[in-house]
Amino acid sequence: MSTDNVVDTKRRRFLVNSTSVVAAVGAGFVAVPFLSSWMPSERAKNAGAPVEVDISKLEEGRLLVVEWQSKPVWILKRSAKTLADLPKFEDQLRDPHSENADQQPPYAQNDNRSIKPEISVLVGICTHLGCSPTYRPEIGPADLGDDWLGGYFCPCHSSRFDLAGRVFLGVPAPTNLVVPPHSYMNDNVIQVGVDGESA
Ligand code: FES
Repeated sequence: MSTDNVVDTKRRRFLVNSTSVVAAVGAGFVAVPFLSSWMPSERAKNAGAPVEVDISKLEEGRLLVVEWQSKPVWILKRSAKTLADLPKFEDQLRDPHSENADQQPPYAQNDNRSIKPEISVLVGICTHLGCSPTYRPEIGPADLGDDWLGGYFCPCHSSRFDLAGRVFLGVPAPTNLVVPPHSYMNDNVIQVGVDGESA
């Protein structure tokens, strides 16, 4: 693992790999013009304010990163294959059914940990000591092993999470990644920071 992939949490510098797409608000973040219609509102610039995110152009397999409450929030559009693969991990996971209610709102306490099955919304902070894991969607990369079907890998102490943010057994992170409160203003706009309902 390159030191370039190590996240300096003190500076709140979050690195994403080249397969990720970043749209972020707030000082210190780099905004990539992926979502041309998306602009941070004055309200979103205030710490703690809900953040509205247009996902109309989000492609399958691409990770969108926004900032909410000074934390990175990942929005991933998962493919049908990714969703079909999720049950395969259950015997390798610490909390496969999201029984720890602290890690997601009730409306995301389901098999996909999401409101809409294909759209995953997670706080991108490792539940071990707070590094930001990297998005690793590849199948069977050399450094993660043949049985890796895509997920998130924390470079600080090698915790692993699947594409629903569920932590694997045998790694330092004690719990699944957090699903933040979020809701859909319409089919294409997510509001991070405001609770919603199950789809
Ligand atoms: S901070 Fe992620 S594994 Fe330690």
